[in-house]
Amino acid sequence: MMNIMKNLIVLVGMMGCGKSTIGAFLSRVIGYDFVDIDKEIEKSENMSITNIFNEYGEKYFRKIEKLKTFEYVNRKKIVLSLGGGGFEDEETREILKKYGFVIYLKATPECLFNRIKTEIHRPLLRKNFSVDSIAFILKKRHNNYEKAHVTIDTTNKTKKEIVCKIERLIK
Ligand code: S3P
Repeated sequence: MMNIMKNLIVLVGMMGCGKSTIGAFLSRVIGYDFVDIDKEIEKSENMSITNIFNEYGEKYFRKIEKLKTFEYVNRKKIVLSLGGGGFEDEETREILKKYGFVIYLKATPECLFNRIKTEIHRPLLRKNFSVDSIAFILKKRHNNYEKAHVTIDTTNKTKKEIVCKIERLIK
């Protein structure tokens, strides 16, 4: 059982919680491949996430996101970063928890805001970007994120500290 869990490490959490940065760093340290679901969607759709949202809408994006995530559940030795809304889907949560070890990277709305304020590619935050709008989304998603196998508070922690902590948890 433990072996299966350790083969697939899944990072979930809000936009700006560090899934991509931590995931890329962690995968280098432990010698796994890194898969960022958003990037894989952009590659196979040949479109940016923003354009997919604008042209086809969020519902279509969620469908593709789910299908794409399911493609990776049986892969070995990968660190998977799931887009911030991907863990809202019940079947996705269940399958990832069954085949993988799911880690919620938790951060406060203020911390998330500071990390993403210079980025403009987040369709969900485009219109109304503030600490409050992040807090609003986080409040809705919080319960589902907490269903991960473990929660790591990333507030005021360095990338290295977080990766060391994850390394201890997956061994
Ligand atoms: C989203 C987060 C984004 C991306 C899309 C929707 C969300 O991924 O999937 O813009 O619903 O929180 P990141 O969490 O990697 O930014």
